[in-house]
Amino acid sequence: MNAEHSGIADPGLAGAGKARIGWARQAMPVLARITEQFTAGQPFAGLTVAACLHVTAETAVLVQALQAGGARVLLAASNPLSTQDDIAAALAASGAAVVFARAGADPRTYQDHIHQALAPGPDLIMDDGGDLVNTLHAERADLLRGVRGGCESTSTGVLRLRRMAAESALGFPVVAADETATKRVFDNTYGTGQSTLDGIIRATNLLLAGKVVVVAGYGACGRGIAERARGLGAQVIVTEVDPVRALEAIMSGLRVMPMEQAAPLGDVFITATGSRDVIGGPELAVMRDGAILANAGHFDVEIDLPALAGQAVSVSYDVRPHTDEYQLADGRRLLLLAEGRVVNLVAAEGNPASVMDVSFAGQALALAWVADQAGEDDGLAAGVYPVPAAIEDQIARLALAAAGAQIDVPSPAQQDYLRSWRH
Ligand code: ADE
Repeated sequence: MNAEHSGIADPGLAGAGKARIGWARQAMPVLARITEQFTAGQPFAGLTVAACLHVTAETAVLVQALQAGGARVLLAASNPLSTQDDIAAALAASGAAVVFARAGADPRTYQDHIHQALAPGPDLIMDDGGDLVNTLHAERADLLRGVRGGCESTSTGVLRLRRMAAESALGFPVVAADETATKRVFDNTYGTGQSTLDGIIRATNLLLAGKVVVVAGYGACGRGIAERARGLGAQVIVTEVDPVRALEAIMSGLRVMPMEQAAPLGDVFITATGSRDVIGGPELAVMRDGAILANAGHFDVEIDLPALAGQAVSVSYDVRPHTDEYQLADGRRLLLLAEGRVVNLVAAEGNPASVMDVSFAGQALALAWVADQAGEDDGLAAGVYPVPAAIEDQIARLALAAAGAQIDVPSPAQQDYLRSWRH
């Protein structure tokens, strides 16, 4: 096994992975256009990018775009269970990236893989959830000086970065690629909304019609999940800590109540809060026999897994793929999906390629922007930066063009009217 293959499960899967990457690429026209631009402009010429992302077919298309732009990419997984081993093999075989990712990696291997991706000393980083940035600051601070900047693709990761920046602990500029309007709507609401239910259905073969689905969190992801569940005929209950979001859920015709009250009512529980212990021991203690527990948030802390294990007298693992059955002392059974990790990426394939096309377009352009800024004389100061408005505009225009849609252009009289207060 050569060095390029050392971090992957099975190089023999490369053929299958290549075919799946080709399928995804067909649904990613925006990234195709950006790849052409990168090929011509070489924004990453001579630069090393350490990326920590879910290793999926869509990520492979992104990595190939970065490589086309001149980058040397080292890729580690951003979740121990979400890696698609055939894609890891295909990427490694194509030489687009050095890959350190395998499905089911134990915590130590997962962390070692991040270290290996960082080892050559990156010029740029691309993170999903913050594990790469955390490791860099906590364990490889010696490499910080060489990092020009990076981007982060999840709200959980951006939250962590802002806390670091507030404490002056962040060592370089990072673009909050999560926070474009295009990403919020496409990816979080439509993408995660659909792929979360896809994961739950693949894992359980459940009919959602007539079921009570409790969605914890009514942010951009939670509202997508709630709408899709309702569309499939479920009765949806929302739990929230934010009064405005709770009101929005009510105005959308959903029931809102504390988790404590929802716990005995739900057939399916889906967490999408970014917080921890949203479903805790007291709630687990009153759930119905056969209740299903799934998490769509980035980390596996939203369902209190130690409390679940503590209440169980035994566990039957993999009663179906990605479904573990916990038997409780009173005879009830609770079904935990994907070990409490991101169910859409573990039990399904993550968000569809057409969604990731737009999200990854933002990330690719944000990284090129950081690379360019950092090349300027004084560069960017350490901190968290919004995606520049021009990039958001460019993504939306490319996505519209890919959809074959055109929009109006304001006339000079309209522009004048909108600019002036005298009219
Ligand atoms: N996050 C959500 N869906 C994803 C996908 N398909 N690929 C990479 N990251 C993702």
